[in-house]
Amino acid sequence: MLDDLKKQASIAALEAIKDGMIVGLGTGSTATHFIRELGVRVQAGLRVHGIPTSEESRKLAVEVGIPLTTLREHPIIDVTVDGADEVSDGLDLIKGLGGALVREKVVAHASKKVIIVVDETKLTGRLGVKAPIPIEVVPFALEVARGQLILWGGEAKLREKEGKPFLSDNGNYILDWWHGPIDQPWALEKQIKGVTGIVDSGIFANVASQVIAATSAGIRKLQRAE
Ligand code: 5RP
Repeated sequence: MLDDLKKQASIAALEAIKDGMIVGLGTGSTATHFIRELGVRVQAGLRVHGIPTSEESRKLAVEVGIPLTTLREHPIIDVTVDGADEVSDGLDLIKGLGGALVREKVVAHASKKVIIVVDETKLTGRLGVKAPIPIEVVPFALEVARGQLILWGGEAKLREKEGKPFLSDNGNYILDWWHGPIDQPWALEKQIKGVTGIVDSGIFANVASQVIAATSAGIRKLQRAE
């Protein structure tokens, strides 16, 4: 059921993809639906180039036949389609439970338009009510960064995979910071970014242009207020 909603949201995002565009390809189960559907359109003749936000998405894009390019060749992306873990009423986001937050943020910031595709469970009103804030940190700085986060409050747990620290595509660790509800996402994002050794956080404030949420009552398109 949820997976079906994720697929519906992804299909609705295809409307924004036009011939000749450079398209940012997100990461995660919802973005996977989008990449597969885009692959079908490419096989049918749509001409686009993709810029993936992770190794996982790169492999999938190759598998489904989407031609790829790089930020070096195309530093401006027409549109990016990606998922999210939480979406606030103001369309700020928490992302990164899939571990790709840094590349996702780089690609989003390089995009003229960012479309976020989610199922209805991701619309949380406020941020920080369900998900931790993923924080990518260079391994050398792990304990310094963790100490600073704990001083600010909450728990910061090193993410693990198969009993070992999870490594991002950039070779860094992820701390999952259980901060609690966030009043000012933009201010907290900036505060976290100010810690030396932290590469970036999964708070994406003022980034989404549009959120497409698939609900049991149909598709909702939420537009960022200018
Ligand atoms: C990966 C992400 C994903 O977009 C986010 O975790 C949502 O994933 P899913 O679509 O599988 O629920 O930020 O780093």
